[in-house]
Amino acid sequence: MDKKIEGKKSIKGTIEVPGDKSMSHRAVILGSIAQGTSTVSGLARSRDVQSTIQAMQKAGISIYEKYGKAVIEGKGITGFEKRKKAAPLEIDCGNSGTTARLLIGLFSGAGFPARFIGDASLMKRPMDRVVDPISKIGVQITSNKGYLPIEIWGGAPAPFDYTIPVASAQLKTACLFAALFIGGSSVVNEIRETRDHTERMLVLMDADIKTRNTLQGKSIIISGRRELAPLDITIPRDISSAVFFIAAALVCPSSEILLKNVLLNPTRAHILEVFKRMGGNIEVELIDELPELHGNVRVRSSSLKGTVVGGVEIPLLIDEIPALAAAACFAKGETAVRGAQELRVKESDRISGIVDMVRGFGSKIKELDDGFVITGKTKPDKGRSVPAKFKSFGDHRLAMAASILALNVRGTSMIHDAECVDVSFPGYFDELEKHTAE
Ligand code: S3P
Repeated sequence: MDKKIEGKKSIKGTIEVPGDKSMSHRAVILGSIAQGTSTVSGLARSRDVQSTIQAMQKAGISIYEKYGKAVIEGKGITGFEKRKKAAPLEIDCGNSGTTARLLIGLFSGAGFPARFIGDASLMKRPMDRVVDPISKIGVQITSNKGYLPIEIWGGAPAPFDYTIPVASAQLKTACLFAALFIGGSSVVNEIRETRDHTERMLVLMDADIKTRNTLQGKSIIISGRRELAPLDITIPRDISSAVFFIAAALVCPSSEILLKNVLLNPTRAHILEVFKRMGGNIEVELIDELPELHGNVRVRSSSLKGTVVGGVEIPLLIDEIPALAAAACFAKGETAVRGAQELRVKESDRISGIVDMVRGFGSKIKELDDGFVITGKTKPDKGRSVPAKFKSFGDHRLAMAASILALNVRGTSMIHDAECVDVSFPGYFDELEKHTAE
């Protein structure tokens, strides 16, 4: 599908984005191995989360919708493992790296024979980061030279003490999920902080888990084989989806939006701090801290100035960088993103996609191995940005980021392969249209 976007619009109104994708994956998976029935409101309905739901259904879990809530009939740790000796399952993870990496951890711990595949993009994403620790703990696992397909043959995993070599919440979670099935205490060490939904959800489920800050970072100590209590939660709305509206409202003149019930966990909401230091007019009203911190976010048009983003900040806003890049095209001065080489192995090579997008819309960007430097336009309402034809590289976050640029330039832009937004935000363009005004 190609999406035409008319430019020079403002954005207004109260916007409700889908439930958080990272929390949704975890709720479906942990609900499946809890002892009893979990109910989850606000579960994301996106294609990625569907991949996780279908995988768990294939593994014998009953997941359905009742009165607008997702119901997950958990089998317990022991009940889930019972399938151990059955024929291997084929799990198609589609476009979802989270499904693949989290379930490789879970199925490995459970000794659950399975073969993992995915779409063309996922088949090119590195999986050695998960295969390495899993093969070290006594699970028979094979990969295609570090990529999918991956096969788990079974094994008898033993407690482990593992330090995560890349800042990756998916890898941390894969290890924690494996540890849930292992008798005794396992330790996962994190040198750089990443999103902590898994740890938080496991605490809510009464797992035997402790987190300790160390000189090197953080250690998570988890004892397996303890049955988990079912969940009864409402998932806050996804900051990684809200960010496209936030960026659009900041840069498009005469805009004001209110985003309701947005996830504000500090390991996810750091983009708000970055936009604020760029001069963004953002007000946050906290609502509650359970199941995770969330609140309402009001955003008004602002004159942005460039900033430097890097180091420990990167894992805290990794998925928001395409939206940040789009906003940076309208910020005064330079915006530099460094230390973000992980962007090269996301759903597409996002550094090269961002470079293509920014240049296509007539702004200046310098590509770095681990990031980029964008020179924004210097005079409000003038500048070089132009309408463009942008191919999304099949990457949902690039397609949505391009729509921010398209909204704020004069003329009609076109985003090709725009249907990829369904991966995280089905109905994104309808929602955008509903809230744009002359
Ligand atoms: C995710 C972790 C991040 C993020 C992805 C979702 C998660 O990936 O980019 O969209 O839910 O754990 P990495 O763990 O690979 O950094």
